[in-house]
Amino acid sequence: MEKPWDGRFSEKVSKLMEDFTESVSFDKRLALYDIALSTAHVLMLKKQGVLKENEAEEILKALKQIREEIESGKFVWKKELEDVHMNIEKRLTELIGDLGKKIHIGRSRNDQVVTDVRLFTRENLKEILSLLKEVKKEIIKKAKEYIDLPFPGYTHLQLAQPVLFSHYLLAYYFMFDRDENRIKDTLKRVNISPLGSAALAGTTVNIDREFTKEALGFDNITLNSMDAVSDRDFLIETIFDLALIMMHISRLSEDLIIYSSYEFNLIDLPDSLCTGSSIMPQKKNPDALELARGKCSRLYADLVGILTLLKGLPLTYNRDLQEDKIFLFDAIDTTKITLKIIKEVIKNLKVNKERAYELSKANYALATDIAEFLSKEGIPFRDAHNIVGKFVRFAIDAQKDLDELSYKDLRGFLGKYKDTLEKKYSLEYLEKIYKDLVNPLKAINRRNVVGGTALNQVKKVIEILEKNNLEG
Ligand code: ARG
Repeated sequence: MEKPWDGRFSEKVSKLMEDFTESVSFDKRLALYDIALSTAHVLMLKKQGVLKENEAEEILKALKQIREEIESGKFVWKKELEDVHMNIEKRLTELIGDLGKKIHIGRSRNDQVVTDVRLFTRENLKEILSLLKEVKKEIIKKAKEYIDLPFPGYTHLQLAQPVLFSHYLLAYYFMFDRDENRIKDTLKRVNISPLGSAALAGTTVNIDREFTKEALGFDNITLNSMDAVSDRDFLIETIFDLALIMMHISRLSEDLIIYSSYEFNLIDLPDSLCTGSSIMPQKKNPDALELARGKCSRLYADLVGILTLLKGLPLTYNRDLQEDKIFLFDAIDTTKITLKIIKEVIKNLKVNKERAYELSKANYALATDIAEFLSKEGIPFRDAHNIVGKFVRFAIDAQKDLDELSYKDLRGFLGKYKDTLEKKYSLEYLEKIYKDLVNPLKAINRRNVVGGTALNQVKKVIEILEKNNLEG
């Protein structure tokens, strides 16, 4: 087949070369953006008098027909025509003859492809923003459903202190919130029009870049044509933002996989998001979460891929850049479907309340509260820490939880500080204090610091978040 560019060639391109260089098999996803771009370009050429009115009208009509053919799936894509741009241009000349060949005046595929990619990225980032919003909404709903439920908090994956389940889950709200802001910021650099940069140097044709910028909804135009056709920073940023979203989802998935295991038994995942085993009839596996975690690695691969693609690339456009779309499309598709799945997981998960309460105070999780009480009574914190450490050792040996012991058991470890305490409080009162210290809900509410896990703090935060969501 004749190529739009083969005038200077005396030999035909081999089939192998066609297979190797084609991109239409994947960049046809850009078709509707390419038509929008061409439409804006033709309108601009008409306004500038580069195309006659009737010529422009005829081209626009044909572009509309091509769009309909693409939308209805009737358009025949040809590998021999390399990419989405040349497929569309060729169809235009099929429809309106030589006039179709006029469309490429004042532009190059180099500015065309990067403009298409910017339009594609803009639309998809906006979709991802609304998916993130939906996930954040589910987090708030679930946090409110279990607003005052004590839940075990971990450091080093060792039970550390009780927290509210709502506080735990809201931690992820803040990660997704930062993701949202990061994307909004990236969009500022995505939404800039490179159209009119042509091959690399601009064009001798009397074009109006402001016009096409407005027509395509860009905020700004690029001011260096060489940078414009070779820059893919906005894609690196985009993929980085998405990789971070996937990393957050991966961490949440890991938490929930652990918490839903038989041993932890804290979370019940919906059957609809789990699968069974082909051999073990009793199994219910958290595959949705495992794949969410697994797919995160694809995003890292996409990020390293696009960074590597750009490294050492001489100015300006190089064909290497055609590969950018492989990474971009994979990153966008993977992130979108994973956000949809994780939203369902959050919406449908159930917390085992009894187990959550039981674990929240297990493994001496209230020891810090005793130490902090002692230090607030004037015992230097290091001494208090040591006293309670020995007390915990005693409890372990006695195989008793802290709430199965009492102040009577503690006082033997207080040494020289015992009198200070007992001069101030009656033994009866100290027993009462001890009981409160080892009560997980009371321990939670003692963390009454901004950003802490106390119920009223968490409620305040939810109020702020709901207000922000209404406004933004
Ligand atoms: N298919 C190409 C890409 O995706 C379009 C630009 C090709 N430009 C060129 N001069 N060969 O990058």
